[in-house]
Amino acid sequence: MNKLVLGLTLLCFYGCSQRSVGIIDADKALDYCTVQVGRTLNELKGDSVIDYTMMPRNIMDSLTTWECHKATKEEWTSGFWPGILWYDYEYTHSAAIKSEAEKFTSSLSFLAHTPAYDHDLGFLVFCSYGNAYRLTKNPVYKQVILNTADTLATLFNPVVGTILSWPREVKLHNWPYNTIMDNMINLELLFWASKNGGSQRLYDIAVSHADKTMKCQFRPDYTSYHVAIYDTITGNLIKGVTHQGYADNSMWSRGQAWAIYGYTVCYRETHDPKYLVFVQKITDVYLNDLPKDGVPYWDFSAPDIPNAPRDASAAAIVASALLELSTYLEGEKAAQYKNAATKMLESLNSSAYRSGKSKPSFLLHSTGHWPEHSEVDASIIYADYYYIEALLRYKRLNDGENVLGH
Ligand code: GLY
Repeated sequence: MNKLVLGLTLLCFYGCSQRSVGIIDADKALDYCTVQVGRTLNELKGDSVIDYTMMPRNIMDSLTTWECHKATKEEWTSGFWPGILWYDYEYTHSAAIKSEAEKFTSSLSFLAHTPAYDHDLGFLVFCSYGNAYRLTKNPVYKQVILNTADTLATLFNPVVGTILSWPREVKLHNWPYNTIMDNMINLELLFWASKNGGSQRLYDIAVSHADKTMKCQFRPDYTSYHVAIYDTITGNLIKGVTHQGYADNSMWSRGQAWAIYGYTVCYRETHDPKYLVFVQKITDVYLNDLPKDGVPYWDFSAPDIPNAPRDASAAAIVASALLELSTYLEGEKAAQYKNAATKMLESLNSSAYRSGKSKPSFLLHSTGHWPEHSEVDASIIYADYYYIEALLRYKRLNDGENVLGH
């Protein structure tokens, strides 16, 4: 075989092996999401009119209708349902869905002038208003995002170098200063605001937070602590503990997922190669120990594996992050991450994880807070949010568009 033929054979083999994980029919999956969104809206409407301040949060295993929570500063999941509506509008271009998205989003406008309750402002405002502004460029939305970024910055402590996650836990748990891994997701709000009329300080806070977390909140094997407790006098780490994981030294699946997503954003926003190197380390330790279908148990050290509950939300978050991350890499590593994300989406698209006709959510089998026996093996709104986000990212990638929809 001459070199050219050998080269072509290898190229074909390489190309075929990339495809062999299966090509997702993103449109079909997004059509499914649209049907489920319609079912949820019908359910919320009931016999009268929708209360736009009530946001779907979960459907427990034994139930078939959404438990809704009032959009308050304490309810960290309130931005996901408006975000889902914006993503569905992006896919369908339906004026009716846009109108619903606008109404649910505006129920969170109070956050633009409310002092910080805790760090969850990125989740609350960037999933809702962030997508609203990305798709409409309405300046009213932009102002809410900018104000909220300034509010989040009030939780930054320059001695520690991170954002305080839970002010309430300082007294409750005697955690003098806590930063949880989930907080990595809130940095996107700060990065965005600093680029869009907010101050440079917001960018500096995000970088400081990411750097300190990278230094203190991971073990030598790149698995993460859910919570880092810091000394406010010295700024030093006191200890790493868990809140929603199995043990202080275990890898809580969604915590690691937040980290993978968050450091992908840090690389996107800073182009600092240290984040690109780091995110591959924390991704690889996660991918290396996954069950075959790519959907993790709720904690990598959960006691009753292989019968432990899964966390489909972690799979959706990681799938979405890896689709973006694959675009910052080349060759084998880019293919590995895209294939891994594809595998995760294939599993989530299957009847093993889809709610289908049984419930109006997109997905089953997420775990919210196992230690408190809360939302175990349930449909949870943030799983649906990152699932539809990942499907849109997958579709854009395959259509040769910018993965983020900009
Ligand atoms: N941010 C809380 C959680 O991931 O459950």
